[in-house]
Amino acid sequence: MHRRPRRNRQHKAVRDLVRETHLLTDHLVYPLFLVEGQGVKEEIPSLPGNFRMSLDVMLREIETCMQMGLRSFILFPAVPNQYKDKEATYSYQPDNFYLKAARAIKKELPECLLISDVAMDPYSADGHDGLVRQGKILNDETLVILARMAVAQAEAGFDFLGPSDMMDGRVGYLREALDTAGFTNTGILSYTAKYASAFYGPFRDALDSAPRADAHIPKDKKTYQMDPANKREALIEAELDTIEGADMLMVKPALHYLDVIHLLKSEFELPIAAYHVSGECAMLIAACRNGWLEYTQAMPEALLSIRRAGADIILTYFAKDYARMQQL
Ligand code: PBG
Repeated sequence: MHRRPRRNRQHKAVRDLVRETHLLTDHLVYPLFLVEGQGVKEEIPSLPGNFRMSLDVMLREIETCMQMGLRSFILFPAVPNQYKDKEATYSYQPDNFYLKAARAIKKELPECLLISDVAMDPYSADGHDGLVRQGKILNDETLVILARMAVAQAEAGFDFLGPSDMMDGRVGYLREALDTAGFTNTGILSYTAKYASAFYGPFRDALDSAPRADAHIPKDKKTYQMDPANKREALIEAELDTIEGADMLMVKPALHYLDVIHLLKSEFELPIAAYHVSGECAMLIAACRNGWLEYTQAMPEALLSIRRAGADIILTYFAKDYARMQQL
């Protein structure tokens, strides 16, 4: 035998030399759930180790994370039912608790990168990302609401906005609205290929944002989020987002869509992000809690797989644990 691939594996130093993929804390974005109030820290039952936090608690949490080298955060609001309506009007009230929190966080911790979520669902009485009328999700009417939300978020100081709604034309529409309002430096991290996935369950528990059970409301998001069976269609979405002015393209979920991540990375020049979603993290946590998998090995392997597939950036609920492990 002239070829013995094991020679490059026989010693830790040589394994380190030939390693093809690296995952640094630099590459991670940590999703955080915000609630109104003070001193609130409630664990999300279907996503153990993750919490709904009020602003005061979140400020300390972000500070702790930053001491571990984690600097990028994506914030989601858990909106009380009484603020929800069909048009998601609370989303752009200038003094809503989500926008107030962004202002406070950027003021106290200006080195952190804050990413928002642009979609109607946390604020919608119907639990949809778009405006529902006569059982249909309206596209163009939704864009007007998303633009108001986006400008309000940019005003509050979010660095990047994350449109997660999958309406057609929203990246271009938001770019135009932001530029017109003078926010030419606010970036767009587009949820480019977001699938109608069964793996968002714990997230919808955290925000109480699932589509409302009502005969007149579509019970799923299949008319706007992508069919899990489709890959070529992701190229169409990525091309449109690129033309419309997105700064980064995201694939979501991540672990079950590694082929889509790989495809977009090879076909597009923009940075590729992947959202390792709540259900994907929850299943690993559950297996580890049962003693069926070893967390400190399985978790980094899952994240590394997403990087190896081509993701430059990973949004994951494991960001803090990974950052902590890197310190040891
Ligand atoms: C809302 C949104 C969802 C997620 C991020 N933004 C849920 C959905 O589309 O129903 C899911 C994230 C996760 O599961 O971790 N537009």
